[in-house]
Amino acid sequence: MEKSSRIFVAGHRGLVGSAICRELVRQGFANLILRTHAELDLTDRTATLEFFKREQPEFVFLAAAKVGGILANDSYPADFIRENLEIQTSVIDACYQSGVKRLLFLGSSCIYPKLAPQPIKEEYLLTGPLEPTNRAYALAKIAGIEMCWSYNRQYGTKFLAAMPTNLYGPGDNFDLRGSHVLPALMRKVVEAKRAGERKLVVWGTGRPRREFLYSDDLAEACIHLLNLPEDLYESLISGHQAPLINIGTGEDVTIRELAELVAKVLDFDCELIFDTTRQDGTPQKLLDVSRIHALGWKARVSLEEGIRRTYTTAQSQLELATS
Ligand SMILES: NC(=O)c1ccc[n+]([C@@H]2O[C@H](COP(=O)([O-])OP(=O)(O)OC[C@H]3O[C@@H](n4cnc5c(N)ncnc54)[C@H](OP(=O)(O)O)[C@@H]3O)[C@@H](O)[C@H]2O)c1
Repeated sequence: MEKSSRIFVAGHRGLVGSAICRELVRQGFANLILRTHAELDLTDRTATLEFFKREQPEFVFLAAAKVGGILANDSYPADFIRENLEIQTSVIDACYQSGVKRLLFLGSSCIYPKLAPQPIKEEYLLTGPLEPTNRAYALAKIAGIEMCWSYNRQYGTKFLAAMPTNLYGPGDNFDLRGSHVLPALMRKVVEAKRAGERKLVVWGTGRPRREFLYSDDLAEACIHLLNLPEDLYESLISGHQAPLINIGTGEDVTIRELAELVAKVLDFDCELIFDTTRQDGTPQKLLDVSRIHALGWKARVSLEEGIRRTYTTAQSQLELATS
């Protein structure tokens, strides 16, 4: 990517898209093309194709998606599969039709089988049953990977799919009905402190192990990938394996350890209560990140530091949400 390359970040106001934009600007990429959901509905294939033909982006980060935690995924599976399939189909096909040089499609680690061996390698895709609570979302993302691969094979495009682990950071969703575990815990701590309580209710047994990546680290990884020299980039997208790469820290913690860390960083002295009527989900989800490490990228922000940074930037958002 040249500093003047035309770069479209789809979903630029979301957790991932906003981090990618911040990092692109920091690195001096000045020619960003951005549209809000209201300005361009990416489920609309005609409008999306017209936009691509008019704006002629050279590089695309596809970070627009319908995203949510266990509760949202379990309650609205039809919305999750339909909207994600529609967005992906519009954007991937428009990238091909308008001659985009490279596309990075953002998926998620939930594409891997529920009981995949740990740490999870890219080649474990489609080797076993998925976690039922987010199967509809995961299948949409798997279809997106297959679409990238199929377009590369049939049309010679250069589409790559990145599978980040659980993410968190500034601009996260702190609404308890749709949020992921880390922002949900932060919000609960702020609410409990405000109410003068001394307990923190955690969903499930606290035993599942999860990996968390700070959104600014993910943004660096995404730009690193789309900016790889031709030979290294080709090694990811050609051949007999899906054009797929994991992005994570390579380290995980239990949900109990996570809750303890959130309480520590937010300075909340409390008792943890585990609500075992809630589902645990997959017992462990740790990505094998050796492929991206070999390409010269490693996560830099520790979990404690990332929680601190997220809390500092989200403090007013959280105060408002809980008032
Ligand atoms: N968050 C995580 O923990 C996580 C983990 C792994 C992978 N990922 C992946 O990263 C990507 C981005 O996730 P995120 O956490 O950044 O999500 P997010 O914060 O919810 O942001 C999603 C963005 O997509 C936009 N969008 C949704 N539907 C759209 C449509 N029909 N047309 C145009 N824009 C639309 C949203 O705009 P509006 O807000 O205006 O609707 C929003 O800007 C997803 O593919 C997700 O699978 C996320």
